[in-house]
Amino acid sequence: MTHPTPTSRLSGLHKNSIAERLARVVDFAGLDEDTAQHLADMGNLDPHLADHLIENVIATMNVPVGVATNMKVDGRDVLIPMATEESSVVAAVCNAARQCYGSGGFVTSTSGSLMIAQVQLVDTPDPAHARIRILERKAEIQALCDACDPLLVELGGGFRDLEVRIVDTAGGPMVITHLIVDTRDAMGANAVNTMAETIAPHLEGWTGGRVYLRILSNLADRRLARARATWTCEAIGGADVRDGIVSAYRFAAADPYRAATHNKGIMNGVSAVVLATGNDTRAVEAGAHAYAARQGWYSSLTTWEVTADGDLAGSIELPLAVGLIGGATRLHPTARACLKILGVDSAEALARVIAAVGLAQNFSALKALATTGIQKGHMSLHAQNIAMMAGAQGNEIAQVAAALVAQGTVRVDIAKQELARLRG
Ligand code: MEV
Repeated sequence: MTHPTPTSRLSGLHKNSIAERLARVVDFAGLDEDTAQHLADMGNLDPHLADHLIENVIATMNVPVGVATNMKVDGRDVLIPMATEESSVVAAVCNAARQCYGSGGFVTSTSGSLMIAQVQLVDTPDPAHARIRILERKAEIQALCDACDPLLVELGGGFRDLEVRIVDTAGGPMVITHLIVDTRDAMGANAVNTMAETIAPHLEGWTGGRVYLRILSNLADRRLARARATWTCEAIGGADVRDGIVSAYRFAAADPYRAATHNKGIMNGVSAVVLATGNDTRAVEAGAHAYAARQGWYSSLTTWEVTADGDLAGSIELPLAVGLIGGATRLHPTARACLKILGVDSAEALARVIAAVGLAQNFSALKALATTGIQKGHMSLHAQNIAMMAGAQGNEIAQVAAALVAQGTVRVDIAKQELARLRG
């Protein structure tokens, strides 16, 4: 008997309860009872909340939250909650921070909390003239924007500046208006998108052009976070290690193939804190990578140099559009708890800590790569994952992992053999 191909056109799925939706998906995918029960366990996220955060909810995806120790940021000791599925990421921050704790830890700063919203005008008959006409309306634009969000203005934020650019495109010149808005403790997407949509018909009226897009830019280069730290030569194991790290940085600065991996390592730390605090990982990642290419080629987000005293000086600068209010940050109880652990009282303070974590992450990656290589450190954690994949449970996990590391072969088939041997 042939079974009909299941259809993905699950009409009315959005109107179903979570349990009803799950039942339909179980049916569609032919999931077994154990898998269905696993998905039905929503862990510590209230199903009603989950159901309101996104559409067509059937389950939650738990990611471990680890806490990085040894961090001192601007003179304050801070524990860093990090949500990540990747082994070694939390340990890397602990190690990097331990090695610069004695020399003062991390010093951080920001350029402010300004977001940019873009409005795209096409078919403007006289783009250069239109640009000037828009700039003349700055006071009017400010009043329109600020009226969109009186609470933001009350909190000290709101419209700050206006920029109008003419961008040459395959479809001719476009007049691109930038609204520059201080969004304070909000990530700010909603605030600036509303302003862009409000201003759009006015821009059409003033210029005779036609508006298409009205949306924030994730290249938040008016919302930069910076961190720096010094590692003494002694603390990191000598001049060879120091020079290896500097050389690794120079490689990344000169070669986009290496820079992509170098920056990926930085984002291992950055995104883990962004996720733990309920912020938008994709927005931060888009901003970081676009910023890394701002010179016209893709390069390193960090810089590594040797100080006059022969120590290692690291610094980082990247856009960090994160908030303490709005979206999942306020709603998700784990995000709220992580913010409490961090003890930050403003979006800028959060961004500064995240920049420090990015620098710490990069230090550890470059140190490992320039010395023993990363596999040695990764191996024992990786071996534990492989042991679990082979079916090891409880104490068996550490025992099978140790056997794999001792043999120098971390493979599931070997883990299964070890497990069988262990169980007699
Ligand atoms: C792995 O997730 C991150 C690294 O590849 C970063 C780097 O190469 O700098 C180790």
